[in-house]
Amino acid sequence: MCAIASNIWQRYLLWFAHDLVDFRMAEIKSLISVLDINMRWVEEPADHPFWIVEVPSEECVKKLASRSISLRGVIELWAHSNNISTLHQQLKALNPNVYQPYLQPHLSFKVEVETFSNHLSLPELVDKIEVQSFSYLPIVGPVNLKNPDVKLWFMEYYGLEPNNIPELPYQYYFGRWITDGQRHLMKKFSLKTRKFIGNTSMDAQISVLMANQGKVKPGDLVLDPFVGTGSLLVPAAHFGAYVLGTDIDYLILHAKTRPSRIQQKVRASDESIQANLRQYGLENQYIDVVVADSSLPLWVKEFELDAIITDPPYGIREPTERVGTHKVPQITEQQAPTHIPSKIDYGHDHLYQDLLNFAAKHLKLGGRLVTFIPILRELYNEENMPKHPCLELVANSEQVLSAYVCRRLLTYEKVSRPSDCMAGERTFDPSLENFRDKYFNHCEDSRQVRRQKHYSNIGLRDSNSKTDRIAPESDT
Ligand SMILES: C[S@@+](CC[C@H](N)C(=O)[O-])C[C@H]1O[C@@H](n2cnc3c(N)ncnc32)[C@H](O)[C@@H]1O
Repeated sequence: MCAIASNIWQRYLLWFAHDLVDFRMAEIKSLISVLDINMRWVEEPADHPFWIVEVPSEECVKKLASRSISLRGVIELWAHSNNISTLHQQLKALNPNVYQPYLQPHLSFKVEVETFSNHLSLPELVDKIEVQSFSYLPIVGPVNLKNPDVKLWFMEYYGLEPNNIPELPYQYYFGRWITDGQRHLMKKFSLKTRKFIGNTSMDAQISVLMANQGKVKPGDLVLDPFVGTGSLLVPAAHFGAYVLGTDIDYLILHAKTRPSRIQQKVRASDESIQANLRQYGLENQYIDVVVADSSLPLWVKEFELDAIITDPPYGIREPTERVGTHKVPQITEQQAPTHIPSKIDYGHDHLYQDLLNFAAKHLKLGGRLVTFIPILRELYNEENMPKHPCLELVANSEQVLSAYVCRRLLTYEKVSRPSDCMAGERTFDPSLENFRDKYFNHCEDSRQVRRQKHYSNIGLRDSNSKTDRIAPESDT
């Protein structure tokens, strides 16, 4: 638990990046739990990127920021109001104990001004500092714009609609910058500079979010049963876990598929998941990856994992398949060593139920399964998400991919052992079955509608139309 400095809880501002908004709360809740942080909200967290919280000491928010990729940074809040003169009054009345340790002659400083949703040029921002004039604050140290000891921070918040900016900000915040979040990991782990990537490699930001949802901590054992190029293993290893994976596709696992980068003609001979981990100095965390079908798990029953973090195939850019045949297999003993088994379609309803059953069996109690699931948005119903009596769905965040399709990041926690709970029932959820067919039919339908609209706009008949109907404008 983070230290309790006094019985007065201090107030901090969490400043979030304004993307993947639906993932914020889930990430913060997971981190509070894994890092054992005491934190309370001053107001109910909202969709906007500024949350005021209270914690017993600065150490707590530093811990949080040392893991969160949703956070841009944390500010010790000195004043906050929807009215600028109240903000100045609050600052003038501020207890000197709050600012004195930081406003010292030997400490350099910088005042940073931000205007959320209202882009201003540098001279306009400088003007703002002069107009607002925080000169009543006893700032005595030298200015250092590049690397100050103390960064004071002033934010004007103009709402979430850049095309509808109010004349005056909705909120003003002033405080001392404490620390940055982990946004820099997006560059560090960017796919652009990664040695081995494929068509479905997961981007760095979401991979880190998933590791945080998995409550990964040093010494954990983390598996991705649909490992592909191993993107989800990277942040898990970065947070100290030992990582391993399986994939049904020999070619992807051995980096023998066609390169995904347009300018790359052939793959380098040393591309591999292990090489990716080496690239980031994380090779010590790598256990192994194996060609295996996740529907036929190869693990002994005592095998226990702290987290399963995965992104199963959606059937759009790669097939959903498992080992099997609809015929009675007939191979001789001699053929067995070189026999490549045939594969059959692996429906999403089966795939997710197998995954949940596997998690219920092989996760430690309290361990987490973090998985994406593709969804046709109009068919989504929270009640229909895959279920298992030993697993509790603790988070469910939507990433919108188009008007019709999204994927949801589901986080389950193992709450009881399979011996204490019934085996998972197979869900026949309409949004899970035949996702691929529905996706392509739906896209085809929407293409049809778009085409008809286009032809109707230009007043022509759509000769490709399935129904060969005359566009409405020509009807009249
Ligand atoms: C969405 S991709 C995962 C991408 C991965 N997260 C990455 O960053 O490269 C899904 C992967 O599941 C694999 N797969 C499909 N069916 C499988 C099965 N039955 N068992 C194991 N892996 C399977 C595919 O070969 C593919 O590599």
